[in-house]
Amino acid sequence: MSTHAHGTQNFDKAKRATIKFSDEIMAQVQEIIKRYPTGKQKSALLPVLHIAQAEFGGWLSPETMDYVASILSIRPIEVYEVATFYTMFHTQPVGKCTFEVCQTSSCWLNGAEDIVRYIEKKLNIKVDETTKDGMFTLKTVECLGSCGTAPMLQCGASFHENLTFEKVDALIEKYRSENRLRSYTDLDYNNTL
Ligand code: FES
Repeated sequence: MSTHAHGTQNFDKAKRATIKFSDEIMAQVQEIIKRYPTGKQKSALLPVLHIAQAEFGGWLSPETMDYVASILSIRPIEVYEVATFYTMFHTQPVGKCTFEVCQTSSCWLNGAEDIVRYIEKKLNIKVDETTKDGMFTLKTVECLGSCGTAPMLQCGASFHENLTFEKVDALIEKYRSENRLRSYTDLDYNNTL
């Protein structure tokens, strides 16, 4: 079944055969590819990876990355290199909602560490872990460019700023009740909490 290993994930040929964009999503992908000159379709890699991550469970499995490589006519290693470089891409399974708490200077000075500890306690997980129900993953990331509203976290396309423990409680409740995958391609993002 498995032909080769990619990191700690095995490549599964049978699973690879099931990875395919719907016609609607493929049309969006082709539109993105068309923005670039012929032969330069690799330039579409980042937006296509975001779509793939949102479409195939919130993370990029080796099979998904292989599929993206085939669409862009590039080598799988070229996709792996990019996917493993950016923290916005997950190469291990994550929960439906990934809390990415900024831990850089301004956020750190304004209590990011306390926010991380609070979320850990509340969700009963540590950083880089996912809750047993598959709902939440907690990560720490570097500056997200919202330093004036520190401390903050990102979940999918939404920024949540000026965090307090009460805001974290409300966020967890809101996302739990919505119970759906949050991705960077969400169009209904809001920063109201
Ligand atoms: S330091 Fe946290 S957003 Fe910049």
